[in-house]
Amino acid sequence: MSFIDYSAGILIGVSSGIACYKSIEVIRELQKRGYKNIETVLTKNTVNFLSPNLFEAITGKKPYIEVFEEGRLLSHIKAVEDKKVFAIVPATANIIGKLANGIADDFLTTCYLAFKGKTLIFPSMNANMYEHSATKRNLFQLQEDGCYVVSPEEGYLACGYEGKGRLPDIETIADYIELFLHIKDSETFKQFITINLLEEDKPKPKPKDPLAGKKVLITSGGTVEPIDSVRVITNRSSGTMGKELAKMFSFLGAKVTVITGNHTARYPAYADVIEVKTVEEMYREVAVKFDESDIVIMAAAVSDFKVKNYSSKKIKKKSNLTLELEKTIDILETLGKTKKHQVLIGFAAETDNLLENGEDKLKRKNADLIVANTVGENKGFGDRNLSGYFIFKDGRKEEFSLSKPETAERIAEIVAREFFNG
Ligand SMILES: Cc1cc2nc3c(=O)[nH]c(=O)nc-3n(C[C@H](O)[C@H](O)[C@H](O)COP(=O)(O)O)c2cc1C
Repeated sequence: MSFIDYSAGILIGVSSGIACYKSIEVIRELQKRGYKNIETVLTKNTVNFLSPNLFEAITGKKPYIEVFEEGRLLSHIKAVEDKKVFAIVPATANIIGKLANGIADDFLTTCYLAFKGKTLIFPSMNANMYEHSATKRNLFQLQEDGCYVVSPEEGYLACGYEGKGRLPDIETIADYIELFLHIKDSETFKQFITINLLEEDKPKPKPKDPLAGKKVLITSGGTVEPIDSVRVITNRSSGTMGKELAKMFSFLGAKVTVITGNHTARYPAYADVIEVKTVEEMYREVAVKFDESDIVIMAAAVSDFKVKNYSSKKIKKKSNLTLELEKTIDILETLGKTKKHQVLIGFAAETDNLLENGEDKLKRKNADLIVANTVGENKGFGDRNLSGYFIFKDGRKEEFSLSKPETAERIAEIVAREFFNG
């Protein structure tokens, strides 16, 4: 006695993927193999691609489309009563999403919930849609719910993309439908699944931002030291380097605070910005934030001197004025003395002996990295390029000549790589 059951009922669900025309050929292939009890369910969108008459002509039975169809009410129950396999060829991302969530808002999805037999899903879609975490999650869920998902193939897709998402060929689809008509034990089914989503196609681990969770403190801009109530000593710093650093470190996932003196550059909206004037004020703000910071970058143009005898009144105009200047606090050096876990980065803006002065600064200030760059007339300020050396603690030096955004990007990259395995 033959165990092949040619009278077994097959319900073919067709959703509106570009490959839906292949469902006709799958039906023809099953018929060729001897299966005659085939009915079809189309989504309403599929009718935009293929006429229901085509399915009626091929199967001899009117396809199901509407739940509320005159004279065919409750057919979503009847349609599945005598079926052994419900194969959805092709299954759109939309249908997969609806089935995985138990939504029954059309004939096909309502049938699925009413059906107690084996459901075979043949996903087919654009590679990005297939790789989307929502699609993966839904397919994963359908497998958990007992559906059998036959993995799409890789190749040239109708949408013009290359990748995974192609419906397998007609004979492959017919092979699976035929097989599942006959296999009885659900444990046996598992060995035939070409790709087990549970194992091989699990959603990939998410890429990580190398400096996520790290706090970066950047000083920027030019400090302003008062001479009297109206006059000041300042410099031409625009804050551009600080702005670019704030951007690049944020792009790598760090939370950035900028403590800035005078600046014309606009800091990114997502950075915390604290405005200060004098070196003293800058130091006070830095000291408050220092302990909680992981990376500290001193990019401000800090005045080395301040006026010793500040006059609260405007100094009267005279033929000669001598200002007595005194040293300001060296912020980098002070931090270098107290630093614990922090990565400390300083800039050495030099007019000559760049390497020597940079190396000396790294040692004296106990910094982890010094960006030694040339300054002077037309060099270093505003939007102009920087050139110089990145000087590392272990003696390595990396020469560079880059725009400010590129320099900031390189510094962020170096910090992530050298200090945080990024
Ligand atoms: C030309 C065209 C081709 C499409 N191809 C696909 C496809 O291959 N796979 C897919 O998941 N969606 C595809 N879509 C999008 C679906 O048709 C759309 O998501 C629709 O809402 C799905 O409805 P249904 O699942 O009820 O058939 C296509 C849309 C158009 C207009």
